[in-house]
Amino acid sequence: MDNFNFYSPTEFVFGRDREDECGEYVKKYGGSKVLIHYGGGSAVKSGLLDRVKASLEKSGITWCELGGVKPNPRDALVYKGIELARAEGVDMMLAVGGGSVIDSAKAIAIGVPYKGDFWDFYRGKAPEKALPVGVVLTIAAAGSEGSGNSVITKEDGLIKKGTSSDLIRPKFSVMDPAVTQTLPAYQTACGATDIMAHVFERYFTNTKEVEITDRLCEAVLTTMVKETPRVIADPNNYDARANIMWAGMVAHNNIVGVGREQDWNSHNIEHQLSAVYDCAHGAGLAVIMPAWMEFVYKHNVMRFCQMATRVFGCAMDFEAPERTALAGIKAFRRFLHSIGMPINFTELGAKVEDIPLFIEKYEIGYGRSGGFVPLSSKDIAEIYRIAAKAEL
Ligand code: NZQ
Ligand code: ZN
Repeated sequence: MDNFNFYSPTEFVFGRDREDECGEYVKKYGGSKVLIHYGGGSAVKSGLLDRVKASLEKSGITWCELGGVKPNPRDALVYKGIELARAEGVDMMLAVGGGSVIDSAKAIAIGVPYKGDFWDFYRGKAPEKALPVGVVLTIAAAGSEGSGNSVITKEDGLIKKGTSSDLIRPKFSVMDPAVTQTLPAYQTACGATDIMAHVFERYFTNTKEVEITDRLCEAVLTTMVKETPRVIADPNNYDARANIMWAGMVAHNNIVGVGREQDWNSHNIEHQLSAVYDCAHGAGLAVIMPAWMEFVYKHNVMRFCQMATRVFGCAMDFEAPERTALAGIKAFRRFLHSIGMPINFTELGAKVEDIPLFIEKYEIGYGRSGGFVPLSSKDIAEIYRIAAKAEL
């Protein structure tokens, strides 16, 4: 196991109706005037935004607001948010939404105290200051409620990139599973896929002797395999929603990834799809992740056998472990299909002729690839090709 620091200072406020307490938490973490940031309207329609405002009012917190964050959030709204927050003298960001809203709020949070262009942070500069960020989460997916990451798409050239800093880890995250009951089944499934992908990016490692994190990863993955079909069948199943919501946080605050080298190539390869087609990140991952697995599994067949047997319950073929490894990948793809995810380019709406464009963007956005198996541009093109024609 490698040396590590684990720092996860977010206060998680979990359970039914906890959004009614968000004013208290804004106050606790020093906010007096917040910018409420939200998305395309689901939080307005469900009445969540009104409940959040009532709670702020009760605690004597004033606010201004900026809605309209789109999935795969863009830089244009971030610039608008920075201007608004400065003009209004905001001292805390309050994101009411999913990964897109939270990431946009984090970008505004580092942009407000910075004199230059906030995009510098997405080009690699480390932020030195940030407004504190509070969250009211509405979808279990990106894990941004517990992470120090933010992913933004630059409209000029459609470059999707991330930044990472402890300064943008939320001070508090309100997580009411009942709030996620209004999610369409497709978004629920996209979120579940992303959660599993966050674990797999950490599970496939070259670091030896990481039993504790292996077992934690497998706990999250088996939970997702069990609970996701339950919420697809019954969107109002509170307990299944609650398990998934917490799994989404555990999958990405890095507790399952410490002490080991991580991969993240599937994410970087997927980001080109959601940048170009504006598809849901989880849907893109459903197409890419099994294809990446098929491309790299020979690097460590036994690790894939471990996934196949422990997560998907495949029988171990001691004569031909490769068969077990491939059965596990197949089981993962079947699972994704069973929850309504696309499994190839046609189902996602992607085009094989765009592969050179994805490679070009990958090279601009990420340069070289490392991780479980370092990949050349040629390898990445092959993964896109496997993904394009995948079948059950
Ligand atoms: O905009 P509204 O109307 O709210 O609708 C949203 C959106 O259309 C809807 N939704 C959310 N909560 C809902 C709801 N609809 C009904 N009821 C609710 N309770 O769901 C749609 C998707 O929302 P979004 O925030 O885009 O989803 P997600 O949480 O998957 O975030 C995706 C973004 O996060 C990035 C992705 O790349 C993508 O841009 N990621 C961020 C990470 C991080 N910060 O750590 C890590 C991830 O790997 C990921 O890259
Ligand atoms: Zn993700």
